[in-house]
Amino acid sequence: MDNELLLSARGVNKSFGSTRALIDVDIDIRRGEIRGLIGENGSGKSTFSSIVAGAQKEDSGSFVLKGEEYHPKSMVDAQHHGVSMIIQEMGTIGGITVASNIFAGRLEEFQKFGLLNWKAINEAADKVLVDIGAPEIKSTMLIDQLNFEDRKIVEIARAVSTDPDLLIIDETTTALATKGRRLIYNLINRMHERDKAVLFISHDLDELMEVCNTITVLRDGVIIDTLDRSNMSIELMRKLMVGRELVGSYYRPDFDGTCSDEIVLEAKQISLRPNFMNVDLVLHKGEILGLGGLSDCGMHEIGKVLYGIEKPLTGEVRLTKGNVKITDSVMAVEHNMAYVSKDRDKESVILNASIQSNVVLPSLRSIKKKVTGFISPKREKTLSDKQIEVMSIKCRNGKQLVKELSGGNKQKVVFSKWLGTDSDILILDCPTRGIDVGVKADMYKLMMDLKKQGKSIIMISEELLELIGMSDRIMLFKDGKFSKEFMRSESLSEKDVIEYII
Ligand SMILES: Nc1ncnc2c1ncn2[C@@H]1O[C@H](COP(=O)(O)OP(=O)(O)OP(=O)(O)O)[C@@H](O)[C@H]1O
Ligand SMILES: [Mg+2]
Repeated sequence: MDNELLLSARGVNKSFGSTRALIDVDIDIRRGEIRGLIGENGSGKSTFSSIVAGAQKEDSGSFVLKGEEYHPKSMVDAQHHGVSMIIQEMGTIGGITVASNIFAGRLEEFQKFGLLNWKAINEAADKVLVDIGAPEIKSTMLIDQLNFEDRKIVEIARAVSTDPDLLIIDETTTALATKGRRLIYNLINRMHERDKAVLFISHDLDELMEVCNTITVLRDGVIIDTLDRSNMSIELMRKLMVGRELVGSYYRPDFDGTCSDEIVLEAKQISLRPNFMNVDLVLHKGEILGLGGLSDCGMHEIGKVLYGIEKPLTGEVRLTKGNVKITDSVMAVEHNMAYVSKDRDKESVILNASIQSNVVLPSLRSIKKKVTGFISPKREKTLSDKQIEVMSIKCRNGKQLVKELSGGNKQKVVFSKWLGTDSDILILDCPTRGIDVGVKADMYKLMMDLKKQGKSIIMISEELLELIGMSDRIMLFKDGKFSKEFMRSESLSEKDVIEYII
């Protein structure tokens, strides 16, 4: 490609204490280019892109943007220069409207005689929302009224509201369902057609192959290679990211569908309008039950009802052991259930606490000394060190604050939190979202181990291959209703499944 150079980065370095997040990074991005940026969790993708977007400062190195030296002082300053970013972590501000979120930090552009012209702000916000294909989100709505996906869409609106030349999309698509993804792909296409550029970060290698013209691989802060369409392949990407060959499929190899007939959990006729209606479900001992469908099919809410976070309008959830009816999540924890939410930053970790405090939180009961009720710091440390190793959490040590970790490593903390508890029933909502390919394989292995120990897992997933690859049984949902069940089978393919979800 010999289009005009848009951004050129040279010798960029960045460290956090003893962690070297970026080492002598050189990257050139041309107009019209859709550049993928890939690498394992903690390899430096967000660090690099947030420096380009003005969110933090490099230690050394230089940038040239559109032929001129570029040193953004802030994200707003970067936007003025034509660089916008949709950040990986939840980036909307609660308690204010959609419009205020879209123009956060730039409201003075709508100032006249010292007064903010709210009519103009709202109109401009609505225009952006319509323009990106989300007219159902209105400028005057309170951001808190929106669900996770729609809030992400507001962030997209904010990023494109300045009509940037370079749009950075950091791990956004894996947080989005069909609607949001389509919206992003349209946007990317438009950027390409208008001779602008996109820096696209994702762990979904198929998606990267579809979307990008070129893909740059980072490993431990160092650029390993840049592939173009002529040599791009999933195998090569995996190998370059991880630094070793990952062979074969990482899903479970067995197909004999082994789990007992013993029922451990049963939901009868549960409904939560408008999300889902009259769902019956049983979970067996040692079973991996996959719940699949589009993101808005109700399956995420089913998970919440099973765990007692949401109260169903009708029906009940019962555990066989002790014949307990689950009515809230405290009860669920007490009866050895675990739940990993899809919306992990919001529901699942305490960002301002250490890895260790987060990991031991749900396990406090089991590591309390029986007699004194005292929690030994040594046992806390042992448990957290073990989880850091099992999940290969990239960190300095267990004392490091969770907020300092890369996105994927935060998610591993959430997972460890629950794995440490020795739960009998685990409800995992999109467990591998944002997790790199190497660790994904480890997580699947972990699920298999749990299964072998007789634990039961409900895995809610939007990825059909993962459902087919890992489940003993798959229940599919469409528009809030159960649509089809499949038993584990070697011959089951995506094609068989897809007609029952759309
Ligand atoms: N504010 C911070 N304080 C300390 N360390 C940090 C901070 N931000 C990032 N790091 C470290 O820098 C390294 C690179 O992190 P970065 O967030 O760029 O990874 P990433 O490639 O985006 O990973 P992921 O795929 O998990 O999002 C990690 O080791 C991370 O822990
Ligand atoms: Mg990141």
